[in-house]
Amino acid sequence: MTIDYSSKEVWQQRFTEHPDNFEWLGGSDALLPIIQNLLSSLPIDSTILHIGCGTSNLSFAIRDGLSVSPERILNLDYAARAIELGQALEGDSKAKGKMLWTVADLLDWENLHGACKEMAPFGMILDKSTSDAIACGYDVDASIAFLPGHPTVQLEPMILLALHLAALVRPGSVWLAMSYSSTRFDFLDDVHALPGVARLNDLWTVERKEEVEAFEQVVPDAPGSTHVHRPPIMHNVYVLRRTNTPLDVWPKDDFYE
Ligand SMILES: C[S@@+](CC[C@H](N)C(=O)[O-])C[C@H]1O[C@@H](n2cnc3c(N)ncnc32)[C@H](O)[C@@H]1O
Repeated sequence: MTIDYSSKEVWQQRFTEHPDNFEWLGGSDALLPIIQNLLSSLPIDSTILHIGCGTSNLSFAIRDGLSVSPERILNLDYAARAIELGQALEGDSKAKGKMLWTVADLLDWENLHGACKEMAPFGMILDKSTSDAIACGYDVDASIAFLPGHPTVQLEPMILLALHLAALVRPGSVWLAMSYSSTRFDFLDDVHALPGVARLNDLWTVERKEEVEAFEQVVPDAPGSTHVHRPPIMHNVYVLRRTNTPLDVWPKDDFYE
């Protein structure tokens, strides 16, 4: 049976049946130094949007390991169960202040904008394999409320995600993505025909792409648990930078401030 990783119901069920911490593509260790470095290039009060947080501890690791004020972090997922679990976990922690949590669909602008508007425009987007899940979906009928003429178009889900995120962040902000795919963002160069946007790489540029070795949880003494002769599995870390090309969503002064 193939699993539809783009289905909300699939994720809701998974987090209901497996409520414990689970890290897609491995834990936060490989990402933390990169995030620390990127944060030092951003304004000190930049807000962070963690998309498709699931039951990952990445936001907790940033809060605790990098001393980022919890009020600067918004955790978002469309699976309500994941958000309930994260909030409950945070409720048990002794940290001062609380992160923000919201249930929203990254591919539904009205819903997403409503959920994010208090903290947008963001300085950093964190995406650990959420793009991978979204890329599994079919094309989406989308009304692009912030493009001239408010066109309704059918778009690949990753194109819609890139547009939505571009509308939620400041110029110079970062989209940090970890993905199993070495071609995850090739679409930025391919698309020419979006109304009001010349090309998606006018909005996002891939500033860095590097491979990191996948962390594998090995159960000691289990049959087949040693991978001594296996080549390492690599994942891809992308740093995308938002250009200065505005989308008509924030007042221009706000965008360039
Ligand atoms: C592969 S999991 C990654 C979870 C987590 N980031 C991690 O590293 O363990 C994908 C996550 O994205 C969420 N997701 C997928 N599509 C989404 C969408 N359209 N809007 C919001 N969340 C979405 C799923 O509910 C799930 O939590």
